[in-house]
Amino acid sequence: MTPPFEYAAEHRERFVRQLSDWLRIPSISTDLAFKNEILRAAHWLADDMRRIGLENVALLETGGHPVVYGDWLHAGPDKPTVLIYGHYDVQPAVMEDGWTNPPFEPVIRDDKLIARGASDDKGQVMIQMKAIESLLATGTCPVNVKYLIEGEEESGSTNLTRFINDHKALLKADLCLISDTGIRSADQPVIVYGLRGILSMELIVTGPKRDLHSGAGGNIHNPAQAICEMVAQLHHPDGSVNVRGFYDRVNTLSDQERVLLNRADDTDAEWEAYMGDLPVWGEPGYSRVERRGARPTLEINGLASGYAGEGFKTVLPARAIAKISCRLVPDQDPKEIFELVKARIAELTPPTVRVELKMLDYGYPAITPVDHPATQAAVRAYAAHFPNEPLYARGGGSIPVVADFQNLLGLPVVLLGFALPDSGAHGPDENFSLTMFARGIDTVITYFDEVASLTA
Ligand code: BES
Ligand code: ZN
Repeated sequence: MTPPFEYAAEHRERFVRQLSDWLRIPSISTDLAFKNEILRAAHWLADDMRRIGLENVALLETGGHPVVYGDWLHAGPDKPTVLIYGHYDVQPAVMEDGWTNPPFEPVIRDDKLIARGASDDKGQVMIQMKAIESLLATGTCPVNVKYLIEGEEESGSTNLTRFINDHKALLKADLCLISDTGIRSADQPVIVYGLRGILSMELIVTGPKRDLHSGAGGNIHNPAQAICEMVAQLHHPDGSVNVRGFYDRVNTLSDQERVLLNRADDTDAEWEAYMGDLPVWGEPGYSRVERRGARPTLEINGLASGYAGEGFKTVLPARAIAKISCRLVPDQDPKEIFELVKARIAELTPPTVRVELKMLDYGYPAITPVDHPATQAAVRAYAAHFPNEPLYARGGGSIPVVADFQNLLGLPVVLLGFALPDSGAHGPDENFSLTMFARGIDTVITYFDEVASLTA
């Protein structure tokens, strides 16, 4: 073992303690009540950056929650510069969601560190931090690095596009590296070479001025009923999306890509382990892995109206809300898709209620060519620390800023993720495997070596 790997192994317990300290800070970005916690989490990270020897460390204003920036640029001008992106904000979490322990009081059970943000994304950001710490503490880092860790990813990275545009010189690099995705199992890494875009919307259906005694039923079109009638018609009975033009710009999968992707499809046993005995549902003609990563969807994320508490309340609700999001694939454009959904909603709106569709947020889909040298360097780094060569898949989730790194900064983006399928991201008992934490640090150290041997 060479010194950086030895250092990482020796300091592993402290790394886990530090990650646990960071996980104790509930840095929930969607809820402004947590603004101070967001700042505490940002400062915690900046302090660690300074401690491990990064320079120019600062919290930079974005108009929303700040980004944490730090760099180390002493590998030499002939060496590549890696821009490392991640996020320190987390999804909301409360005990009632089904947690076994309070979500911001990390515990270790078996091989898992359990807390909100453990895998998405604080644990994976710490992999990037502890890899550079292990290198700098034992000598030097073979590449130049710039860290850009943001605080608004889980609420749509609303201010980051402008920030990137305004800081092109600061963020100048040769490639972008992100650890914020998953792999298939502890033995099977996956190169995620694409992410879906996202469009999130709110559909508001209003009826009477205020909630009525439901004895008025029969005279008024109930908004709860109207919204159900409407959202029920956003899909065809076969599961495909029923919005005119929705699929027009979707790139067809080549036979070659289908072969590559389907090697990463889950087995029936894996499917059962995650979903129980639920039958598979979705667009006809595509496998699970294709539907999840390479085909677009429209999802109802939430429906609210009337009374759903204990017992019964005979009420005719005045309004109903549906939260709807679309996951998009190249070359769909979220703004165009919004117009198409709006037109479909207009078509479905009965004259008996008032309807409004609002766009909340959007991000473009992105693909990184699998044969790019930066991606192939990741293949070699995974292969060095996992028993199997990586498979290739497209991720179903979204990291809105990936398309900005490609389009605004012209960077190839490499997704070097380490979350296991049962990591529970966004759900109760989110966790990060401690084995993956350690292996991730080693993989990133090797990745920097691999990148250093590419010409800048
Ligand atoms: N880490 C995820 C992205 C992800 C998840 C990529 C699974 C690939 C597979 C990220 O933190 C996330 O959850 N993003 C949000 C973005 C949204 C709030 C704009 C998402 O995908 O829902
Ligand atoms: Zn994430």
